[in-house]
Amino acid sequence: MRYGDLHAVRGVSFDVQSGSVTAVLGRNGAGKTSTIDVCEGYRSASAGSVQLWGLDPIADGRELRARVGVMLQDGGIYGSAKALRMLRHVAAFYAHPLPVDDLAERLELTNITATYRRMSGGEKQRLALACAIVGRPELVFLDEPTAGMDPQSRRTTWELIEQLRADGVTIVLTTHLLDEAERLADHVVIIDKGRVKRQGSVEDLTEGVPVITFRADANLPLHTLQERLAVSVTATEEAPGQYRVDGSTSPDVVRLVGTWCSEVGVVPRMLSTGSARLEDVFLGLTDAPDES
Ligand SMILES: Nc1ncnc2c1ncn2[C@@H]1O[C@H](COP(=O)(O)OP(=O)(O)OP(=O)(O)O)[C@@H](O)[C@H]1O
Ligand SMILES: [Mg+2]
Repeated sequence: MRYGDLHAVRGVSFDVQSGSVTAVLGRNGAGKTSTIDVCEGYRSASAGSVQLWGLDPIADGRELRARVGVMLQDGGIYGSAKALRMLRHVAAFYAHPLPVDDLAERLELTNITATYRRMSGGEKQRLALACAIVGRPELVFLDEPTAGMDPQSRRTTWELIEQLRADGVTIVLTTHLLDEAERLADHVVIIDKGRVKRQGSVEDLTEGVPVITFRADANLPLHTLQERLAVSVTATEEAPGQYRVDGSTSPDVVRLVGTWCSEVGVVPRMLSTGSARLEDVFLGLTDAPDES
């Protein structure tokens, strides 16, 4: 996907298993919306192709419409629309829609009186989500489905997505929320500056990424520890007094950390060794300085 000189998505490629949840994970501006919009047939790609059951999202759009649900990042709903009326209107396009009242109740749309334009951010999101799934699609695209939602609505949305999946619906969503990807996704595609950095299951992505963490006084001279570590091992203070050493949990490195702490006169607290979380992997992959 190119916008003038900006190559916003380049060579992104992934397969989506039927009945699974795929999360396209990336920072703001990484190219998530550009990617998912192309998959939905909402934008046409500058190059490359997308197939949904072998069909083209744009050329075969008419045929796909009944099978695919879409929740756009910017809503795509008329400003003057009222929640329930809009949902009924969308439901009427489908042969076997979900019961509108139940869905509205579930997503707390029943008591919204404002027009779409004046709805709160979370209300807009809930209405857009309801419109995306009311037609019982086989495949749903959700662009940041829980953006702006409070914790209760987020939980309801997660449960709804899990239920869709249990019903065999295929889901492709974008998010920059690690806990969302960790909880929901069978397959995670991490994109950064328009490219796929890594993809796989959460287990695949976090497996074998060793990390040591510990707490101590803030602002310790970490460079004196770093000097003794192999180049593939990096020591950082991720928050004041919260330290991490990425790349190895070998006894030698643990001993070096202990020795260093004693030299700088501190006792490491809550020292632990283990595998990275998705967050660690994501930050490690996407915090690199701009190379483009
Ligand atoms: N229509 C457009 N014209 C020009 N540039 C665009 C257009 N749409 C997107 N971009 C640019 O392409 C890049 C990727 O944008 P995109 O919306 O795909 O990112 P995103 O990952 O969805 O970000 P966010 O998390 O903020 O939603 C950004 O730098 C954005 O400014
Ligand atoms: Mg986006």
